This record gives sequence, structure tokens and C-alpha cells, in this order.
Amino acid sequence: MIIGGSASQALAAQVATELDDKLCNVETKKFPDGERYLRIKEEIPEDEKVCVIQSTGYPQDENMMELFFILDTLKDMNIKDITVVSPYLGYSRQERRFKETECISAKATATLIQSMGIKRLISINLHEESICDLYDIPVDNLSAMPAIAQHIKETFNEKPVILAPDKGAQNFAKEIATILDTDYDYLEKVRLSPEVVETKTKNISVEDKQVVIIDDIISTGGTIVNAINILKEQGAVSVDVFCVHPVLVNDAVIKISAAGARSVQGTNTLKSEVSNISLAQTIANHLKSL
Ligand code: R5P
Repeated sequence: MIIGGSASQALAAQVATELDDKLCNVETKKFPDGERYLRIKEEIPEDEKVCVIQSTGYPQDENMMELFFILDTLKDMNIKDITVVSPYLGYSRQERRFKETECISAKATATLIQSMGIKRLISINLHEESICDLYDIPVDNLSAMPAIAQHIKETFNEKPVILAPDKGAQNFAKEIATILDTDYDYLEKVRLSPEVVETKTKNISVEDKQVVIIDDIISTGGTIVNAINILKEQGAVSVDVFCVHPVLVNDAVIKISAAGARSVQGTNTLKSEVSNISLAQTIANHLKSL
């Protein structure tokens, strides 16, 4: 049985359809003081395998708390076999301590999530692979790149160059480029003199090319706007922007479009105006393989 938390109900419904599984919704509402009410709408047999799908992006605290409410209710119902799919796992961006006495929020949330007695956690392109090590239960970090590559294949009339906005994202570009059999590169800062730093493509020219930028997260859009400006300066004919997690703080899409992007697209790990690539099949195929 698939249970869709309120942050991921459409995706949960798609996964249930892919798997031909039962879908059980949760009913939630907010009390006047802001506290949340939650009810699982159906009785579930104790021996049922249950998969809860709930992203824990903005508003992170509410969505995380809702996940805990669902899991605690399932425990009360004596359900033993629970898998959580949190396609976007909130609080994953601080997975280590940069200054003494800081909270490692990825670790704190890991402690809470696994204390709920779940068997397995599944997420998509976690901010750092090392987040898996914060858990004692199995954590599957799936990649959205095959789904994004498929979407590019279906919508582009010629093979674009795949570009990562920084070295940290180059493996995403490589994964997509390998599937599409095209070139990839990343932007690198080069110090030309003590005063002058230039950011440019590491290995290939983008002049007269269609370019696709890929990153895991678009938050404020600053990283992408900077990359578009550089690619345009270097003569790219078009720039389309793809991300896994469209966090999209404030007017990030407007800023990116204003910088000259032909399109901005993301997956449905988070609900947003650009979440048009569904990962239902990616998740369903993985659940089927377990
Ligand atoms: C950084 O590690 C990530 O891969 C993204 O590049 C970053 O989170 C994007 O943030 P923003 O959209 O605020 O530049």
C-alpha cells in the first residue's frame, strides 16, 4: 500500500498506478493555533507492506512533522514493514559541522526518522552521498538523471552539450551525457593573475551549441544565473536549465528566465511551477526491485 503525505500526494498516486498498488490518503488540517491534525483514512492490515511517500521540503518543519505523525500512527496500527520515500529530504544540506556547536541538521533528522522504526529510506539525489552513513537502516539514494535524460531525448531536436555549473555537479552532467551519447563539461574558476579570476568551461567550447545546464538543486537561482551569463558570453546559442529539486526560493525562475534561459525544468520531488518531469517510474521500478 502506498500512503501519500500531503507534500507528495500526486507523486504517490502516480507511483501507486505504476505498481498497481492500493493508495491510501491521509487527511490533514491545521488547527487555528497552527498545530496539525492527521488521520490515515483507512484501516490497514497488520501484515501489509506500507510505503509512505512524503517530501520534506518547504515548509520543512511541517512536512517532517507530518511524516512523523504518519509513521507513529502506522506504528499504533501495528504495521511492521514500512519504507519511507522522501524524494526531497529536507535538512540534508548541513551534513557536517562547519563551526563548533552547530547542529548537524541532517544527522538530527536521521536520528528522528530512523527512531520511528522504519525498514528503509529512499530518496533522490541526496545533497551528499555521505548522508546515507548517518543512518543505521538501508538508505537508497536514487538518481533522477535517467528520467531527465529521457525527457531531453524526447524534447530536443539535436543533442545538446550537458553542462554542470560547478565541479560538484559534474557527475550529473556526465551521467546524462553518457545516456544521450553527447558531450559534457563543467564551469571552472581559473585565476589568470592575482587580481583576475575567470570562470569558463573546463574542456570544451560551447560556441554555437545548444547547452543544457544540470544541477541537483536550484534554490535562489544565483548559481544558474551566473552560469547562463558565462555560457551566453561564450557564444552558446541556447541554454535550457534542468534540476532535480526545484526548491526555487522567491523569484528564482524569473531571475533565470531574465538571464536568458530558454526553459527551466525540474522533477516532481517537490511541487513547483517547473516540476514537469515525473519520477514515479524511477521510484516504482526501485520499489519493485526490492
Ligand atoms: C550546491 O551545492 C548545489 O548543487 C546548488 O548548486 C546550489 O544549492 C544552488 O543554490 P542557488 O540556487 O541558491 O545558487
